[in-house]
Amino acid sequence: MIELQDITWRVDAPHASAESRGLTILDNVSMTLPEASTMAVVGPSGSGKTSLMMMIGGLEQPSAGSIVINGQTITALSEDARADFRRHHIGIVFQAFHLAPAMSALENVMLPLLLSHAPNAEKVATQRLEQVGLGHRLRHFPSQLSGGEKQRCALARATVMSPAVVLADEPTGNLDDENSTLITDLLFSLAREEGSSVLLVTHDASLAANCDAIVTMRDGRLTQHAEAASAGPSAPTASMPTSMSTSMSAPMPVPSDGAASHLEGRIQ
Ligand SMILES: Nc1ncnc2c1ncn2[C@@H]1O[C@H](COP(=O)(O)OP(=O)(O)OP(=O)(O)O)[C@@H](O)[C@H]1O
Ligand SMILES: [Mg+2]
Repeated sequence: MIELQDITWRVDAPHASAESRGLTILDNVSMTLPEASTMAVVGPSGSGKTSLMMMIGGLEQPSAGSIVINGQTITALSEDARADFRRHHIGIVFQAFHLAPAMSALENVMLPLLLSHAPNAEKVATQRLEQVGLGHRLRHFPSQLSGGEKQRCALARATVMSPAVVLADEPTGNLDDENSTLITDLLFSLAREEGSSVLLVTHDASLAANCDAIVTMRDGRLTQHAEAASAGPSAPTASMPTSMSTSMSAPMPVPSDGAASHLEGRIQ
């Protein structure tokens, strides 16, 4: 379960004059995404969709407001504690993938498992890569993968731990219809079969329409919220603050620890 309460994020605009320095990227955003449900975040370029995902992933700290994930107020945690929480509970697919270039597809997907000391890392990672149609690309490096293959590898890495929260920024952006269906099925099965809260940023109308809820962002605000007709009592919600209101990418956080240190050393 993800709960956002009045999230505002202000930054100093680069190279701005004193009067126009403050830039509000997220403006009073509140929403709830229960476990075992899916939410699509839509909206024009620059409206704050990626920023919202960064916040929920604990990669940025808001200027005001709180974020609670499965009972843990992540906005109250130190950066290290947030990274630890993220490693165990959150899977992120970045808009720009952020695969470790010096690692093979298999090593990229094994990394979260090794960092968590999960058993059978190679077997589990191989199965997930097979599930996204990359069983024949295990030993390829990111530079040897197509855009869609990189995207599927990133998705395999983000979901290999079956995390409580999956955040995906344009997960089908580079994919053909067949692979898009493959990825969509995987994301929806994580929600339905493993109970994950899945939040997708997407421009794909049919993908959005299949989610339990759709929220629209504009100028950092949540401006619109639609629920699927099938949504039950625990459906996702988003509340509109005083004005109407409205969401992610950054390098994969790389915690340090023994089992994976030989891999970490190769991340650039
Ligand atoms: N660290 C930052 N410092 C200053 N401005 C930022 C920062 N991060 C994002 N922005 C600005 O915040 C706005 C929202 O950016 P964001 O990446 O969240 O948009 P988006 O909705 O994901 O767009 P797209 O659909 O193009 O990916 C943009 O105007 C961007 O320039
Ligand atoms: Mg974006």
